[in-house]
Amino acid sequence: MVAQIQKIKRIAICTGGGDAPGLNAVIRAVTLAAINRCWEVYGICDGYNGLMMPEQYLEGGLVRLTRERVKGITHLGGTIIGTTNQGNPLTFPIKGLDGQIQEIDRSDELVRAFQLHEIDALIAVGGDGSLSIANVLAQKGLWVIGVPKTIDNDLDETVITFGFDTAVSFATECLDRLHTTAASHHRVIVVEVMGRYAGWIALECGISGSADVILIPEIPYDPSRVAKKIMDREEHGSKFSIVVVAEGAIPKGGTVSIVSREPGRAERLGGAGEKVADELQALTGKETRLVVLGHLLRGGSPTCFDRLIALRFGAAAVRALEEGQRGIMVALDPPNVKYVPLELATRRMKTVPLDSDVMLTGRDMGICFGD
Ligand code: F6P
Repeated sequence: MVAQIQKIKRIAICTGGGDAPGLNAVIRAVTLAAINRCWEVYGICDGYNGLMMPEQYLEGGLVRLTRERVKGITHLGGTIIGTTNQGNPLTFPIKGLDGQIQEIDRSDELVRAFQLHEIDALIAVGGDGSLSIANVLAQKGLWVIGVPKTIDNDLDETVITFGFDTAVSFATECLDRLHTTAASHHRVIVVEVMGRYAGWIALECGISGSADVILIPEIPYDPSRVAKKIMDREEHGSKFSIVVVAEGAIPKGGTVSIVSREPGRAERLGGAGEKVADELQALTGKETRLVVLGHLLRGGSPTCFDRLIALRFGAAAVRALEEGQRGIMVALDPPNVKYVPLELATRRMKTVPLDSDVMLTGRDMGICFGD
């Protein structure tokens, strides 16, 4: 083990994809744990952009992380080194001679940039997209440790990702607030939440926030079933309803609502809530309002739970390097943090199991899932 400690002189950390509360806590834990082992730590600006386009940065795209630089950041949302969900190095968009956008693989060039800067190892903090990139870099010989981040909680092989608890807590608070106004006006309020193709956020805030209907991508919904639930409530004296819609919700026989597709980045979802609100107003005749929580779920201070998980993940990633682990992701397996192969973690998306205890809780409480 001592030999491994001496081998590492310099490490880098990058944060990629959508930001999530807790990123700064990871950065702080990694920096302090590394400095305490006498390693230098650099933050790569904006995912891998700092290494792929250094000329665009005043400091050259790499930021030296010192004790001073990571002071007082544990509780801050966002990421002090920046992030991006554009410019995936594996499908990097460039303008071809014909003026058309083409996607090229710049991963070899990226690996060479790490060598050029004498970076011994990388701690890659990201969701499925960023960790899939990290997995390819690991296969090309880069020493990589992954840290799972996403408000969506859709990464496999870890019980939870940091950022999720903060997103669900805030969404639940919003549902609490919307209840009183919905009840006062006898309205239907449709609340769209993020989560991509998984329903974790919608399910957990919906149950905790007493939603009457929860629509998740895992269960294609029938608008008439949802309308019936609202009218049943009306008949029994509850003249308002709260309908939580995951942005990836799919109507029976329909498809997910996409806002845009651009080269080098994941497709953007949106419009699912609007669709449901329009359908419900037409089917029930009740006044319906739409609230899209969107990026509000990604902002603000991480909850204590997310802070602690993020700090634990960051410190565990440094310990993993010290132990000579490679190509792994740190993961929560309560009460411990364990290591799982990056390859396994990025193999498939973790969606809501329909027989899970949380789903059964919702069903037992009479929440309508649109089926
Ligand atoms: O993956 C995190 C996430 O917030 C998703 O829930 C959402 O679909 C997406 O990112 C939004 O990305 P952008 O920041 O590009 O709008």
